[in-house]
Amino acid sequence: MTPLEERRFAVKNAAEQILSIIGDTPSVEKLERAKAVLVALCARKELFREDDFPIPTGGITDRTFLIYDNAEGAALYMVTSVPSQAYRPHDHGGSWAIVAMIEGETRHGMFTREPGDDGSAPKLIHKTDIICRPGHAISLMPDGIHNTASLGSGPLLHLHFYGTRFEDQGARTEFDLDTGQTVQFRLEEFGHIEDRR
Ligand SMILES: [Fe+2]
Repeated sequence: MTPLEERRFAVKNAAEQILSIIGDTPSVEKLERAKAVLVALCARKELFREDDFPIPTGGITDRTFLIYDNAEGAALYMVTSVPSQAYRPHDHGGSWAIVAMIEGETRHGMFTREPGDDGSAPKLIHKTDIICRPGHAISLMPDGIHNTASLGSGPLLHLHFYGTRFEDQGARTEFDLDTGQTVQFRLEEFGHIEDRR
């Protein structure tokens, strides 16, 4: 097999395993089991060489490469990021998500949205922080909200699996912790997605 064939084979295998674990309805327990499959794919660093997946340069913080998708709209991305990468709290527009690290370390803040007192606007409550590094993954249920901050001084290489591809995460919402405002995510802010299937 050529390196490309080898990557396609390994990615398709892992993606199909994950989708068969999750089935039609995600649960915390299924996402936990599926994480192990994505972590094992991340351990095969030789499949994700910098020649094919370059680190961003020139002021952009991330490059996003589509490596698998299916007819139902699930998608797996390889993402490379500069060391300063950080995102404020956001959901994924009703999609479940699994993120696993190939290289680098990220802190994920996990949030829930809870009703305000006396019918006031819902509040974002910070529940916990999870450190994600090689050998580890984080997952979000469809109503999950997280923020991310890169730790350390090296670039990040990570895999992101979503039940719903980025383009269809239409109602994705971001939360400004300083002002309490919510902002609808616009795809153009995410930049161009490069096809590496
Ligand atoms: Fe996210």
